[in-house]
Amino acid sequence: METLQAILTRRSIRNFTGEAISDEQLHHIIESGMYAPSANNRQPWHFVVIDDRMLLDQIPGFHPYAAMVKEASVVISVCGDTRLEPAEGYLALDCGAAAQNMMLAAHELGLGSCWLGIYPRKQRMEAVTELLEFPDHILPMALIVLGVPNEIKSTPNRFRPDRIYSNRWPWPEPETGRI
Ligand SMILES: Cc1cc2nc3c(=O)[nH]c(=O)nc-3n(C[C@H](O)[C@H](O)[C@H](O)COP(=O)(O)O)c2cc1C
Repeated sequence: METLQAILTRRSIRNFTGEAISDEQLHHIIESGMYAPSANNRQPWHFVVIDDRMLLDQIPGFHPYAAMVKEASVVISVCGDTRLEPAEGYLALDCGAAAQNMMLAAHELGLGSCWLGIYPRKQRMEAVTELLEFPDHILPMALIVLGVPNEIKSTPNRFRPDRIYSNRWPWPEPETGRI
């Protein structure tokens, strides 16, 4: 798949067949995360692969938008190490870039993925920290749900030429209503 095609056709998948994904697929996905750009190339991330059904089934208990985990094969906790990157903003951005790389890699491999928001919601961060026994210097940033997709989603048109400006901010300010 061409990179541009992968970027434009990736969608959040929330229905999975329940089939397992292979170790090789998992390797490609995590490796892709590790090739993301990071501030000062600090690569301040860690990846916890959650495939223990007892742990997976606890996720919808603390996360209101995680019902799809029940049918997923694996969830990867992308977490940031404050010892490697003390600036929390950079830590979140670096881990976000890793998460996006992983979702694109999953799509390329024919797998489905969905990002579960964790950071910066304190309650969810505490729940992941407790579930996965993180030390204080590890911040849970996102949970990436992975599995064999059981739905096909179309590609919406999201191109917004009105959000592109030339050289400087457009005064008078345009209306930027929410979608
Ligand atoms: C920071 C962040 C948090 C998200 N949290 C959730 C979530 O908790 N549950 C969920 O089902 N989707 C979640 N999503 C996925 C978004 O809902 C989804 O990306 C958005 O609706 C656009 O749809 P698409 O991914 O199919 O293009 C999250 C995405 C991001 C980037």
